[in-house]
Amino acid sequence: MKKLAVVTGANRGLGFETCRQLAQRDIQVILTSRDRVKGQTAVDKLQAEKLDVKYHPLDVTNPESIESLSQFISKEFGHLDILVNNAGILTDWVENPDGDIFKAKVDTLRETIETNVYGPLQLCQQLIPLMKVQNYGRVVNLSSSLGKLSSNMDFTVFPTYGITKTAVNAVTVLFANALKDTNILINSVNPGWVQTDMGGPHAIRTIAEGVDTIVWLATLPDGGPTGGFFQDKNLITW
Ligand SMILES: NC(=O)c1ccc[n+]([C@@H]2O[C@H](COP(=O)([O-])OP(=O)(O)OC[C@H]3O[C@@H](n4cnc5c(N)ncnc54)[C@H](OP(=O)(O)O)[C@@H]3O)[C@@H](O)[C@H]2O)c1
Repeated sequence: MKKLAVVTGANRGLGFETCRQLAQRDIQVILTSRDRVKGQTAVDKLQAEKLDVKYHPLDVTNPESIESLSQFISKEFGHLDILVNNAGILTDWVENPDGDIFKAKVDTLRETIETNVYGPLQLCQQLIPLMKVQNYGRVVNLSSSLGKLSSNMDFTVFPTYGITKTAVNAVTVLFANALKDTNILINSVNPGWVQTDMGGPHAIRTIAEGVDTIVWLATLPDGGPTGGFFQDKNLITW
């Protein structure tokens, strides 16, 4: 039987390419987005490539939307195999381009944390029980080099975004600990600086390069790593 994957924030960028590459590996993919038209357009593109991809709406900041996705999967499929917590926002580059922590705004942090941390947290809470059904699961949480505590001694950019990516790493470790006696593996990934709308045109990696480790973590063999932080398929420090 085909494995079933959910990817959040998948109408463009890394999420969209993750859907494509998972489906190319014969995985059935539920592509989710908060905007129905953008999401359906993205699905149409992948279906035109003969890939097994379906659409379901999901705003990761809305608990009812998360619950509705969970109920849909439970009813239609009875289980889930793969979750890629990809949806993310980065807003402080506009209001705090110098990355000055003294100017970081709590309102920006609150808004960013809703998407980048509370979203993945609640998706794990709602969807991992559907992985327990078959004692199989792979969860990938999109972090960043700015989520590395060690990087924050070197970089001075995007402080509120960085705080949220550090926090999502904590979400990874806490779930990994809770799931350590299961075949449900959960890891964080730093995709590098990638040429998406968020990364901008000067980024050094193509989207395909950015997705490589995401897809690897989403398809880890049994007995693979859990509770880690990965870049280029290598474990990196927090
Ligand atoms: N690009 C990089 O260099 C880079 C580096 C490190 C980490 N990352 C991380 O990689 C992930 C993907 O980034 P990207 O570069 O592909 O960014 P992107 O091109 O800006 O795409 C972000 C996606 O997230 C979606 N999204 C935002 N808020 C959402 C919400 N509340 N509910 C559902 N979807 C939502 C967006 O949907 P809309 O189209 O509706 O806005 C969009 O589809 C993010 O978590 C990002 O932090 C990226």
